[in-house]
Amino acid sequence: MANRSGGLPLLMLIFITWRDSMRCCAVTADPPEDLAILDLGRLGRLEITWSPPSSLMSITKCLLQYQLEYFNTYKNRWETLRTPGRTYSAQFDLSKDVQVRVSTILNGECTNNTVIKSKEYTEVVKKPPSTGIWDTEAKEFMCVYHNMENLECTWTRSLKTPASSMQNLYFWHKSLEQAVECPNYILSDGVRTGCNFTGKPLPEFTDIYFCVNGSSSEGPLKQAFFSMQIQNQVKASAPDKLYLQTSSDRQLEFYWTNPAGRLHVHCLEWEVRHHHVGADGKISLNHIHTKTPSLTLLFSDSNERHCIQVRSRLNSYCVDKSFWSDWSHETCHPVLENVKATLEPELNFVSVYIYIAVAIIVTLVVLLSVWATINMRRAGLEKKVDSVLPKLLTKHFTQGVSKIYSGKKIWTDVII
Ligand SMILES: *[C@@H]1O[C@H](CO)[C@@H](O)[C@H](O)[C@H]1NC(C)=O
Ligand SMILES: *[C@@H]1O[C@H](CO)[C@@H](O)[C@H](O)[C@H]1NC(C)=O
Ligand SMILES: *[C@@H]1O[C@H](CO)[C@@H](O)[C@H](O)[C@H]1NC(C)=O
Repeated sequence: MANRSGGLPLLMLIFITWRDSMRCCAVTADPPEDLAILDLGRLGRLEITWSPPSSLMSITKCLLQYQLEYFNTYKNRWETLRTPGRTYSAQFDLSKDVQVRVSTILNGECTNNTVIKSKEYTEVVKKPPSTGIWDTEAKEFMCVYHNMENLECTWTRSLKTPASSMQNLYFWHKSLEQAVECPNYILSDGVRTGCNFTGKPLPEFTDIYFCVNGSSSEGPLKQAFFSMQIQNQVKASAPDKLYLQTSSDRQLEFYWTNPAGRLHVHCLEWEVRHHHVGADGKISLNHIHTKTPSLTLLFSDSNERHCIQVRSRLNSYCVDKSFWSDWSHETCHPVLENVKATLEPELNFVSVYIYIAVAIIVTLVVLLSVWATINMRRAGLEKKVDSVLPKLLTKHFTQGVSKIYSGKKIWTDVII
């Protein structure tokens, strides 16, 4: 091209540039009109609608698109997207400002295939409704999906919440036409503190939006919004069956299983709390993470003792986060028989002491009676016996009783 230098190409170039600049500048991209935000009762899922700029109504051969920007109050950042449509729905936290901006994007023949964005945008900022007594919104909202079977959400009241208040929980997800109220409230001292979704499963891997609002004799409570995906709220049940096996090569193998349910073993991970008492009585505690439901420990001495407890949670391959389960019961090697063996003799000694004490008392009573009878006969003083015998009896009897409780001292009594 450069070799074939001449006036024509240059002229053509100028012409084309002129033509295109004419085309280009004849089309001005105005921002969209009639931007509106509609609340259809879906807990912050708002419909954003707009119309094309009227200045473009008569323009043909134009590819019309819009650039939508909105402030994502859940992620605390601006989101930007392009769409040929005239409506879009996005999620907003209704307790905060809703900010939306839309610009026009032109492309196609009308702009010589260059992308032109309107210099201005149309903006709507919607303030949250100022209703609700200040500082009465629900706090510490939390949902736990127990063993991926039973979802429970709880919250606490703000201090300023009037005692007469009644709180409600509503939820919404994209398969619902409208927000739905909690099917079964959890009460604590007659006050709603949570919601039990048992028997009303919510979809997993989709955003669920919650709103806690309420009313009181002093007016409406401030509403609070929360959002989560429930597969990230799972709390597994504690492993319930722990097995232990010793092998000849001084290895201890622990195995455990989680209660049957919807949780897949490949989605679980475990933490083992290993409690070791050495032959020298030295105690150590350590925590071991494992991706398999088993653990092998070495033991060198038959006088040492190993105890383990296990807890589980979903791993990060299956969900973004999860809660630890409670700890399982404890399983030890050697098994508790050793402890029992040291406890039982003590118990036996106590009962032996009691038998001995009772025997002593009986013997004393018999001896005293004999002694008293002999004395009585010898002296022939019948009245004296009446007063001596009960005194002696009560004296020795109370001594005996107090010695039953004072335990080991009784041995010395037997010797005397
Ligand atoms: C229009 O597009 C053509 C080809 O893409 C290019 O050569 C020409 O310079 C453009 N005209 C203007 C005015 O940008
Ligand atoms: C929720 O309901 C289930 C089944 O009825 C029950 O087992 C569970 O204890 C309930 N939770 C609370 C916190 O009341
Ligand atoms: C709570 O929110 C729901 C859903 O938006 C609404 O239907 C209900 O009227 C509200 N209740 C109060 C007391 O504000």
